[in-house]
Amino acid sequence: MTGAMLFYSKFDDANDWREHLLNAMPGLDFRPHPDVGNPADIESAMVWKAPPGEMRKYPNLKLIVNIGAGVDYILKDDTLPPGVPIMRLVDPEQNRMMAQYVLLTVLRYHRNFPELEKQRREKRWQYIHPRESASLPIGVMGIGNIGSHVATELVRQGFPVSGWSRTPKSVEGVATFHGRDQLKPFLARSHILVLIMPFTPETDGIVNRDVLYALPRGAKIINIGRGALIDEAALAGAIRDGQIGAATLDVFRTEPLPSDHPFWDIEEITITPHLASIAVPRSASLQIAENLRRLRAGEKLFNIVDRARGY
Ligand SMILES: NC(=O)c1ccc[n+]([C@@H]2O[C@H](COP(=O)([O-])OP(=O)(O)OC[C@H]3O[C@@H](n4cnc5c(N)ncnc54)[C@H](OP(=O)(O)O)[C@@H]3O)[C@@H](O)[C@H]2O)c1
Repeated sequence: MTGAMLFYSKFDDANDWREHLLNAMPGLDFRPHPDVGNPADIESAMVWKAPPGEMRKYPNLKLIVNIGAGVDYILKDDTLPPGVPIMRLVDPEQNRMMAQYVLLTVLRYHRNFPELEKQRREKRWQYIHPRESASLPIGVMGIGNIGSHVATELVRQGFPVSGWSRTPKSVEGVATFHGRDQLKPFLARSHILVLIMPFTPETDGIVNRDVLYALPRGAKIINIGRGALIDEAALAGAIRDGQIGAATLDVFRTEPLPSDHPFWDIEEITITPHLASIAVPRSASLQIAENLRRLRAGEKLFNIVDRARGY
C-alpha cells in the first residue's frame, strides 16, 4: 500500500498537475488541499507557499516537493519536520522560460528599443546605428542550473558572457569567476548584469552600492532571482545619478510591489510581477515521479535542497 500525495498551492492549477502526475504515476492518490482526508495517509507533499506549520500535520510525510526552483519561502518555516528531504524543481521548460525572459530583455536593450519606443510616442524618426552583439559583454551572477542555461543562450546570440558563482564552475564559451575575491573583475566587465541567485543569508542585499558602482557606468540590471538580492534604495540612487542606465526587475523585496514604492516612479525601471517562469506540469511531473519511485525503492534522491546552505 503506497501513500497519498498532498497538493498545496494557491498559484498553480491542481487539475493540470493531477493530469500530468497521473500520466507519470498511474494510480497516484492525489489530494489537493483542503480535501486531504486522513493526514496519516500523506506520504509526499507538493507545495508552493504553504503556511508555516502545514508540513507538521502529516506524521508519515517522507518527501516534500517545492513547486519551483527557489526554496527561500519554504525554508523560512522553522517548524518543517527536520528529517524529511525537500526536493526542488530543476526543469528544462522552466530554464527555457527564464532564458526567454533574459534574451527578450537583453535584446530590447541591445537593439535600443526603450529609446525607439520613446521616439515613437513622440512621433520622432531618428536613426540609431545598431551594434553587433560582440560589443556588449554580459555578466550572469549565479551560474547554477538556470544561470548556466541562460549564459549558454546568450553565448549563442554572440554576446561575450561571464558568470560568477560561489564555487568554481565551467560552462562552455563562458568566462567564469567565483568567490568574493573575483567579484570585482567580474563586475568590471558586465555591461548588463543578470541576477539569478537564490535568496540566502549570504546573498541578502549582495547587490549593494559598492557592487553597483563596480559595474561600467551606464550598466543595466536584470533581476530574475529574488528581490532581496538588491539593496533597492542603492539601485534607485544609482539610476538617479546615471551610474546604472536601466533595470528590468521581475522580483522584489516585497511582493506585490507596494503602490507607493519609489520604483514605480523611475521610468528606467521595467517592472514585471514575478512571472519570468513557472513550474511546467508536463515536464516537471516526470522528475517528481522518478523521485517518488526512488523514495519507495530506497534509492538515492536527486535535486534535494541543502537546508543548511539555504538552496
Ligand atoms: N523569477 C522567477 O520566476 C524565478 C523562477 C525560478 C527560479 N528563480 C530564482 O532563481 C534562483 C536560482 O535557481 P537555480 O535553479 O539556478 O539555482 P541553483 O542551481 O542552486 O544555482 C544557484 C547559483 O547561485 C550561486 N550562489 C548561491 N549563493 C551564492 C553566494 N553566496 N555567492 C555566490 N554565488 C552564489 C550558486 O553557486 P554555487 O553553485 O557555486 O553554490 C549557483 O551558481 C532560485 O533560487 C530562485 O530564487 C526565479
